[in-house]
Amino acid sequence: MLQAGFLWGGALAAHQVEGAYREGGKGLSVADVMTAGANSVPRRITDGVVKGERYPNHNGIDFYHTFRDDVELFAEMGFKCLRTSIAWARIFPEGDEDKPNEEGLAFYDELFDCLVAHGIEPVVTLSHFEMPLALVEKYGGWESRALIDLFVRFARICFERYHDRVRYWMTFNEINNQYNTDNDIYGWTNSGVRFSRCADPRRAMFQASHYQFVASERAVALAHQIDPRLKVGCMVAADAIYPFSCHPDDVLLAADAMHSTYYFTDVMCRGAYPHYAPRMWEGLSEPLDITEGDRQDLATGTVDYIGFSYYMSNVVNHVAATDISESTAYSDPHMVDNPNLVANAWGWQIDPKGLRYILKAFDERYCLPQFIVENGIGIVEALNEHDTVDDQERIDFLRAHIEQLKAAVEIDGVDLIGYTVWGCIDPVSFTTGEYAKRYGFVYVDRNDDGTGTCRRFRKRSFNWYRHVIETNGEEL
Ligand code: BG6
Repeated sequence: MLQAGFLWGGALAAHQVEGAYREGGKGLSVADVMTAGANSVPRRITDGVVKGERYPNHNGIDFYHTFRDDVELFAEMGFKCLRTSIAWARIFPEGDEDKPNEEGLAFYDELFDCLVAHGIEPVVTLSHFEMPLALVEKYGGWESRALIDLFVRFARICFERYHDRVRYWMTFNEINNQYNTDNDIYGWTNSGVRFSRCADPRRAMFQASHYQFVASERAVALAHQIDPRLKVGCMVAADAIYPFSCHPDDVLLAADAMHSTYYFTDVMCRGAYPHYAPRMWEGLSEPLDITEGDRQDLATGTVDYIGFSYYMSNVVNHVAATDISESTAYSDPHMVDNPNLVANAWGWQIDPKGLRYILKAFDERYCLPQFIVENGIGIVEALNEHDTVDDQERIDFLRAHIEQLKAAVEIDGVDLIGYTVWGCIDPVSFTTGEYAKRYGFVYVDRNDDGTGTCRRFRKRSFNWYRHVIETNGEEL
């Protein structure tokens, strides 16, 4: 049995739903200069907002204006919590003003009050892929140590203002995404840095991550001082990485590949760099800027829980595709398809058991509570003649994953706080900027070409999830 009070709910991010990108005094964020892409067509980052380009995050799904009605729908499903984020540029439009923007703070007052009034606990990420653009222009984003103090100040303002309504926090969304320095949107959204333009992309990535670790750990310590009841977690993208075969070289390669997650969780959960870190830093063009004071900060602000997203698993083969003249869809030539799994239309391999694997792995490594703060499947969908969507595929996907999280809790003894389904009301996709990649229990009538009424419609999964919550996961 899952514990009473298990936090069932959904997850969103401010920039993917709010829209109103220039209302309420909000400044531009890094997400506001990312164009719409498509399946296999990457999003572009433009120098400022360029006339004639399409920027889906400018409108999102208009949640800034519709949140009251949307929260009614979440309450109808029986959500116990809603994970969302605070747009940093609503609170500090330029990132470094002396005073926060009261209108931005008031918006989140209204949103959190509305959630609490419906018995829905807000779960909040401070930085979900959208720092103020001005911080990139003035400081070079997280390349600069100055960002640490600016982030901690932003965190302080949020903790002080909302601590009476928000108990669960996370600092940086999927902080380990930027480990992939080949695709600029990851470094851009995590850190405001285009690693491909840096002389030494890996050094730039490790340095930006370090400043974020320090900022995160200082924020955790601060939250505890402000209100000892607050729980602050890290947030990582937890893709399980398997060896392609039992060849010992595949097994060793997979173990090392998991450092793309563990490097980050080790620092944030244990408060110090792991002993294998210097091996990962070998070959950097110059040493990283890590001070003794930083190391003390890391040690004093370890996280209260591990928040993570889980969508898929991956496989590595010690024989690189390039060595055998094969082309690969992955940026890592050692990454190959798993012949035992099928993928969705975007090539994300569906693997419910990988979720149990991750839960067990984190549990055995850190012995901390965990929170699955994103899981879900993107599907191309359309309304049928009954004004609904028959999304049995989503129900099957979620059922299979919930079965595995239950096994992790009931059989493996994992301490799990909750489960929030990503994109509970169709948001703008992060990686592609599409509306067509839909995740929700609620369909939003908005199309990639900008047409649509923006009206909301319950999908078949809406009632299914309501029953899951009602029975605390007993009936799937
Ligand atoms: C995670 C992010 O990477 O996955 C979300 O935290 C994102 O912001 C989600 O939307 C799904 O990715 P996508 O690209 O399908 O929207």
